[in-house]
Amino acid sequence: MTGTPRLAVAVGDGGDPALARRLAATLALPLLPEPGDDLDLLLLVDAAGPALRPLGPGASGPVRCRFDDGALRHRRRGGHNEAIGRALAVGGASPARVIDGTGGFARDAFVLADLGAEDTVCERQPVLAALLAEAIASAAGGDDPWLREVAGRLRLVAADVRTLPVETLAAADAIYLDPMFPVAGKRAASGKAMTVLQHLLDDDEAAAAALVDWALAQPVRRVVVKRPRRAPPLGGRRPSHSLPGRAVRFDVYPKPEQLITSRE
Ligand SMILES: C[S@@+](CC[C@H](N)C(=O)[O-])C[C@H]1O[C@@H](n2cnc3c(N)ncnc32)[C@H](O)[C@@H]1O
Repeated sequence: MTGTPRLAVAVGDGGDPALARRLAATLALPLLPEPGDDLDLLLLVDAAGPALRPLGPGASGPVRCRFDDGALRHRRRGGHNEAIGRALAVGGASPARVIDGTGGFARDAFVLADLGAEDTVCERQPVLAALLAEAIASAAGGDDPWLREVAGRLRLVAADVRTLPVETLAAADAIYLDPMFPVAGKRAASGKAMTVLQHLLDDDEAAAAALVDWALAQPVRRVVVKRPRRAPPLGGRRPSHSLPGRAVRFDVYPKPEQLITSRE
């Protein structure tokens, strides 16, 4: 997708009109589109909360940002077998402090927080950041003690990760990146959520490689980059090792001690 996506907020069945108005105002989006409006995406507020729904012929169904779905509960049962947790050394005696520099729908961030990480989640795309804020607030204020506890370890920063204060970076153990990028003329990602992201984002491989270079210059113990299983390392930067996940792998870049600011 190039250019700004055409987006509007709408209220669906059982949706909270006040939430729809708040999202429209925060994001400076039109509320209640007219029939015939030429839109790429609808930010639909229905009984299940906000969702992003692509429009047009063959469009996929709505995508939600929420942490109480079956897929995340299933991943929870995988527990410490999750390659992402091992790649980031999460799950030790003291909680790892992770900066997730590419928040997206925060599914990875949620898994890391479930494994015990204190996770600062950065998302620079305002619509996604607004959905994330709603999802974290809803989990933190809901009835499920597990969701409340995990959401309590997520801190959202609705901004580019590179604007984080140096103290936040110096206090972190690791930076995690899962950038979007095209492979051989096609987007590497598939699935409903990734289709929606393609509407909203304009990131290319050069931007993703620049983000990795930035992360490698920060005073953290390691940087971990998620890649499609067979893709080359991002920006040609060789990791020390990689951990295979189901369809992806996690490239691990430990940092030389002299680059790490002492936190003692
Ligand atoms: C592929 S998605 C990440 C998906 C995420 N790992 C998940 O589990 O849902 C990449 C996200 O990173 C965000 N992003 C890319 N560069 C960023 C940056 N420099 N700072 C903050 N967010 C960034 C994009 O807006 C996009 O939402």
